[in-house]
Amino acid sequence: MNIGIDKIGCYTPHLFVDMKQLAVARDVDPGKFITGIGQEKMALAPITQDTVTLAANAALEILDEDDKEKIDLVIVGTESGIDQSKSAATYVHRLIGLKPQARTFEIKQACYGATAGIQMAKGHVALHPDRKALVIGSDIARYGLNTSGEVTQGAGAVAMLISQNPRLLAFEEHNAYATDDIMDFWRPTYSENAFVDGKFSNEQYISFFNKVWEQYKEKTQLGLADYEAICFHMPYTKMGLKALRTILDEGAEADRERLLANYEISKTYNKNIGNIYTASLYLSLLSLLENKTDLQAGARIGMYSYGSGAIGEFFSCVLQPNYRNYLYQAHHAEMFAARKEVSVTKYEEIFQEKLPTDGAAVSLNIDEDPAAIVVAGIKDHKRQYVNKT
Ligand code: HMG
Repeated sequence: MNIGIDKIGCYTPHLFVDMKQLAVARDVDPGKFITGIGQEKMALAPITQDTVTLAANAALEILDEDDKEKIDLVIVGTESGIDQSKSAATYVHRLIGLKPQARTFEIKQACYGATAGIQMAKGHVALHPDRKALVIGSDIARYGLNTSGEVTQGAGAVAMLISQNPRLLAFEEHNAYATDDIMDFWRPTYSENAFVDGKFSNEQYISFFNKVWEQYKEKTQLGLADYEAICFHMPYTKMGLKALRTILDEGAEADRERLLANYEISKTYNKNIGNIYTASLYLSLLSLLENKTDLQAGARIGMYSYGSGAIGEFFSCVLQPNYRNYLYQAHHAEMFAARKEVSVTKYEEIFQEKLPTDGAAVSLNIDEDPAAIVVAGIKDHKRQYVNKT
């Protein structure tokens, strides 16, 4: 049975910061942020967006009534959740109008959460072929103002419908994975911002990639020539390129050229949004599908997922016939075109805005946020969500 990604959608907030402006404000050569790191714009979540609303907005656009009837598993992968107990998936389930006969929960393992969700969904559909699963990666990446990680922040979500006979991509049989308990990036429960050992995290990302790539080759006998493209978790767009370069000499010149050219296309959305942790790999996949117009059915795409702490996983999927008919490219183009730039000063202000934590009730101005689903305020320590549609 073919199981895979039937639909894929993304959402990013309507505000962004230009990386040239951030570089100037931080007294850094803009070349470092644009070329050295590979980021052009950074999505910024206003106070009316959080992990729940980003996830719900990403899912809202892709589901029709038949999907809603068949979805009985909803998984949100996130590492910037709003509650230590209640899952983001439960809020999302209500906000997008799913039926009650469903399992809903949140998964955490740094940027790996959505991949864990997908593997679980694959097993669920294998056991219940008439059912569908909704898997969402949703995150707001925060390192803090004036930190070296600041340029790698971002906000957004990617939602995927997993089903049998998928219209976009079918998962292949094998997976290769590895775990090691390391401290490259973490966020203790008392901190709003992540802690990171930047250089070490880069080394580990590559070292895990090399381990799972070798493991996958052994299991499948596939080599560079067999891949049309390889998509990477993209904490910033230069990172995946560094990992890709470590294996390029295994292939012929044509393989190197193809994989490098497709890597460039696979970073289209990521360089304009920034790191969205759990969703970054899938945003890269979406960039490739929507921006490379001549991909052929049957083409194989490799997928490298990395979640600090750490786990790495490699798997692959195969493009299905007529997949282009089932993308939401025009909708995503509109969303990007409608975004507004904010100055660095305004970004710093928005970055520090918080809902009260003392139980005081607050109503937010939701008219400024064009998103369908927003945080309208807080009351009795309960976030108030509104679906404006
Ligand atoms: P840094 O120390 O600010 O930057 O940290 P750098 O000095 O390493 O410079 C970066 C690059 O810019 C270098 O290129 C420079 O040469 C270049 P590279 O050698 O790397 O190819 N450069 C310039 N290029 C052009 N013109 C110039 C110029 N100046 C310098 N004028 C770092 C950078 C990424 C470490 C930092 O931003 C950081 O700590 N980010 C957060 C951590 C991170 O993203 N780690 C990635 C791997 S871990 C991961 O992916 C998991 C994660 O997503 C979390 C999760 O799993 O939940 C983070």
